[in-house]
Amino acid sequence: MKAAQIKQFGHADAVEIVDIQPPVIQPGMVLVEVKAASLNPIDTAVREGYTQSWAPVELPVTLGGDIAGIVSEIGDGVTGFQVGDKVYGQASALGGGSGALAEYALTKPEQLGLLPENIDFNEAASLPLVGVSALQGLKTHINLQPDQKILITGGTGGIGTAAIQIAKNLGAHVVTTVGTQAVDYAKQLGADEVIDYATQEVGTDQEFDAVFDTVGGETFQKALAMVKKGGTAVTMAGQSDEAKSQELGITIIGQMTHVNTAALDELSALITSKSVTPHVASTFTLDQAKEAFQARENESIIGKVVVSIKD
Ligand SMILES: NC(=O)c1ccc[n+]([C@@H]2O[C@H](COP(=O)([O-])OP(=O)(O)OC[C@H]3O[C@@H](n4cnc5c(N)ncnc54)[C@H](OP(=O)(O)O)[C@@H]3O)[C@@H](O)[C@H]2O)c1
Repeated sequence: MKAAQIKQFGHADAVEIVDIQPPVIQPGMVLVEVKAASLNPIDTAVREGYTQSWAPVELPVTLGGDIAGIVSEIGDGVTGFQVGDKVYGQASALGGGSGALAEYALTKPEQLGLLPENIDFNEAASLPLVGVSALQGLKTHINLQPDQKILITGGTGGIGTAAIQIAKNLGAHVVTTVGTQAVDYAKQLGADEVIDYATQEVGTDQEFDAVFDTVGGETFQKALAMVKKGGTAVTMAGQSDEAKSQELGITIIGQMTHVNTAALDELSALITSKSVTPHVASTFTLDQAKEAFQARENESIIGKVVVSIKD
């Protein structure tokens, strides 16, 4: 089968399309015929070797995590899925899978969910990590309530696009920061107030019940002062901070997303009811995996970069 692998850590140029044997089914695992995959910042981090200190992978490694496809084989002991099921989820080497950017991927059943019927494989592949991240941030950590006011930073990135929609579905008042080119799209997604981070400042002290940050760094540090006492700030790009939490009288959480079947099922229900609509910014073939990485890393992307693997 074809796969996008690296033999050495490095820039997008390190990505090679290779012809290798498909993964062999194992007990407790599921083999998926991959129809589409999508790229996330973590895939770049794996490719560059930044994840080696906490989650080492062996080279050569097939890159990619998010997948959508059809179950082609089931390992002994697996329940909940059948051959022929349309599924989406994760198959990252970081999580014990064989990698998403390939014609077949081996993964754990607990990282898969059934595909919602109203979206195609490309759209489905765009959602597992970002959709589950938004759900876990807004529902599990923040417990966002109707009429609460939330700041979502990076509102038209992968996670932000899902987060604006989920926060609106929960009945919150959503303020978001985006790049100039994405202001109109953030409004279309339902944001109540859209701030162009290049030209406008965000808000006032203790204005928000919660912050869901997808940017990190100075953006997140500034946002912390805007959270009301007793409120919650979750960042996708930073650490929990107990000392600062106590100083500000808020809860600060650095989120680690866990894609799992229950979360994917919850996401599927939101997709089916059209409360969450995927946004595929651009689509590449597997042969163009290098170009797909370059587009994600060098261009201003609204939504997700997808690699379409088989029609
Ligand atoms: N901890 C976990 O488990 C986990 C899981 C998934 C992702 N993450 C992390 O979460 C972060 C977001 O992921 P993602 O997939 O949503 O990334 P993404 O698609 O690259 O989105 C990031 C967004 O932030 C915007 N942005 C950049 N600088 C900004 C600023 N100063 N103010 C407001 N917006 C700004 C970007 O817009 P422009 O196009 O204008 O630059 C882009 O839309 C990444 O750091 C990723 O590594 C963590």
